[in-house]
Order: sequence, then structure tokens, then C-alpha cells
Amino acid sequence: MFMSVIRVQQILEGRCEGKKVQVRGWIYRKRESKKTIFLVVRDPTGVVQCTVKRDSPAWKTAEEATIESSVVVSGTVKRDERAPGGFEIAVENLKVVGLAETFPITEYQSEEFLRDVRHLWLRSRRMTLIMRVRSELLWYIHEFFRKREFVEVSPPMFISSACEGGATLFGLKYFDKDLYLTQSAQLYLEALIYSLEKVYCVAPSFRAEKSRTVRHLTEYWHVEAEQAFVGMEEMMKLEENLVTYVCHKVGENCRKELDALNVDVNKLLEVKTPFPRITYSEAIERLKEKGFKIEWGEDLGYDEEKALAAEFGKPFFIHTYPRQIKAFYCKLHPENPELVLSADLLVPRVGEITTGGAREDDKDKLVERLEEFGLRKEDYQWYIDLRRYGTVPHAGFGLGVERLLMWMLDLENVMEAIPFPRTIRRFYP
Ligand code: 4AD
Ligand code: MG
Repeated sequence: MFMSVIRVQQILEGRCEGKKVQVRGWIYRKRESKKTIFLVVRDPTGVVQCTVKRDSPAWKTAEEATIESSVVVSGTVKRDERAPGGFEIAVENLKVVGLAETFPITEYQSEEFLRDVRHLWLRSRRMTLIMRVRSELLWYIHEFFRKREFVEVSPPMFISSACEGGATLFGLKYFDKDLYLTQSAQLYLEALIYSLEKVYCVAPSFRAEKSRTVRHLTEYWHVEAEQAFVGMEEMMKLEENLVTYVCHKVGENCRKELDALNVDVNKLLEVKTPFPRITYSEAIERLKEKGFKIEWGEDLGYDEEKALAAEFGKPFFIHTYPRQIKAFYCKLHPENPELVLSADLLVPRVGEITTGGAREDDKDKLVERLEEFGLRKEDYQWYIDLRRYGTVPHAGFGLGVERLLMWMLDLENVMEAIPFPRTIRRFYP
């Protein structure tokens, strides 16, 4: 008799009651009584209880099957209040595709151990849910930009000069030359606006971050956008629209996953524009009032960011920074050259999730800025060229996918937001 392969979700939705089905998946749990073996089988959509009776031809196979063995189960779907999810499969046939050795992950294990076996821990319900939301999030990010007629571009990963300063550059041997891994696609996106005007990319960025914090990876996924004929204000609007769009979309379409992860969906649905904005100078005032020992001109650390973000309790911008704490490419404030038109977007618990702003579009000023930062003009000749041939005011930003997800899903550590995290100490598996 023909049996179609069914997803567990279809069974749990009550669409297969009384039908003969075939399910493919892995054994998630196993319990044995005298007369029955209960196999809980998981597939990408959920888990379903499968019962094997002693008189069934599947009994012997069920006895031998181990946790995490891959299986094909055939049987009839029955409604049963006692089964988790309300339905179970009365097994008629069971095939073990790959018999598992004793699975190393048991119930109570340290975060550290689970990261050592991340290749196996990815099978857990929690990681499966996070990876699903991550996939949806990326989809909505693309959707957002496409709807606004941004063109997706593909930047290089091998680069010859820094975007975000030498301290976090990863060097590598490129044949007999010394090159680096990219920290940001920004400079390349800037080149592409001259033909495409509005561009974006989603690509890895690499940072030789020596600090071990809950929000730093050495390899992360970076959403970056760049647009001609706009300034910092327009860029902040684009960023808040993007964050609001993806929060609403994930809130509406990933309800099941969010519930299972204990995330309050309202936190996402209640995100709305415009986000509050304060200047860097205001941020310093607020921090001083809170007793922080910080002076105007110093960069904000994680503690300062968290304190400010806790006050807002939602996403907000800090903009218009001192020139010395932002990168060489930032456009100087037209009225006060001590300041640059740069903005960070912060969220509670995580702090900074984006940096963006207007870029210096004047050739001479850019060259001065390179000198100010001790960077060699020769290394940035192509970037300076962009200001020689039809320069244009422009702005852009970069958003860390894992940091955004860390905030959206209340994750304790940014390492939870990516399947195979890389940090100073972690590069296995
Ligand atoms: O603030 P950053 O360094 O800014 C840039 O790279 C700009 N060139 C972007 C642009 O304008 N196109 O990095 C941007 C964002 C940060 O706000 C943060 O969310 C994320 O990238 N990020 C990291 N995420 C995880 N681990 C790290 N080590 C990160 N470093 C930056
Ligand atoms: Mg930044």
C-alpha cells in the first residue's frame, strides 16, 4: 500500500488521523514497558510519539534502536490524549537507517560542553528553533531591502586595507603577499552606489576580537547598506524601518518558535518608529548623572551602553560623536568639525547593534582624515578615487545579525545565534 512521507507537524495539526503514514526522522526519546516501546521521533517540524507493541513485527528493531538513530516509521495515526501533542503513530513497520552509538548529550550539561559538541547540540529543540528564526529573519531582511529597490551586491572577503582599524584585522598569507579578512564591506559598497545608487549585502565579517564577551564573535554575519544622495538622518530612518519591519514579520510569522523559546512576542510587535534619538553629548550627561566616570571624548563601553539602554527599554539611537572615536571615513559635522555624523543603534541587554552615518565625500578632507588616523594614502587610492569622479553625499550602516537575534530572542550569549560560533578560544567544531 502506498504511503506518503508526512511531516510530524501535519500529524500534530490533526490532518492525518486514521491514515497510514510514513515519517522519517531521528529517535529523540525512548521508553520501554513490558508490552510497549514508546519511541519519540523528531523531524524538522516537531516530535511525535510512536508506539510499538510486543506482537508487532517492528518490536525487535524498536528494542535495538538507540537515541539519535535515524529511522523510517510506518503506521497508523491515532488520536491519544496521553501522547504529547495529542496524536501518536501505532507502528507497523520500523526501519533503522543509521544506528547511533551512545549519544554523548544527556540532560544536564554545561554550556561549555554543549559548545564542544555543537555539531550534535544543533539537533536540540532549542537550537533548531533558533536556527529557524534566524533563517526567517534573514529572509525578511532581504525582503525589506528588495521592496525598497536596493540591489544586493557581493563584496570581497580578501582585502588589502582596513575599514575598521588595524587592531581587529585578521592577517593571512595570500600567495606571497600579506592580506586581511574583511571587517566590513562598507568601502566596497560605497564604490557600488555610483552605478546602483542603493545597495546592500549580507556577508560574513571577521574581527580579531581578543576580548571574551557575550556579544563578540570573531566571525559574524553583517548586513550592510549604502545609499547615494542621503545623509545620517535618512540612514537612521532606514535602520529603524528595517528593525521594525523584521521584528513585526518575525513576531507575526514565528509565533510558534517564539512561544517555544519563551520569548514575549509583544516585545517584537510593539517595536515602532521613530526610535528615540540622543546625541553622544546627551549620552555622556546621562551617564554622569548615573555616576559613571566618563568624560566627553571617551568611547562608551558595554556597561555604559547597557545602562543607557536599560533606561530606554527599547531600541534607540546615539548620534553625532566626537571625531576621534569614530572611523576615518565619517563625515565631519558641517558646523562643528570636532564632531562626526555617525550614529549607533542600541537595544537593551546587548547594547550596540548597528553603526552607520554619513561618509566623508570631499577628497581633500578624506585625505586629511586618513593622515589623522595614521593611515597610508597609497593603501586607499581606489577609495579616494571615488571622491575624484562625481563624488556624491552618501551614507550607510552595518548591522550584526547575531546581535539582533540575541536581543530579539533574549539569548544569553551571541554564540547561541550562529550554528558554529567562532571566538578567540572557540573554532571547533
Ligand atoms: O560598528 P561596526 O564596526 O561598523 C562597521 O563595520 C561599519 N563599517 C558598518 C557600515 O557602516 N557599513 O560594525 C557594525 C556592527 C556592530 O554594530 C555590531 O552589531 C556588529 O557589526 N559587530 C559584531 N557582531 C558580533 N561580533 C563582533 N565582534 C562584532 N563587531 C561588530
Ligand atoms: Mg560600531
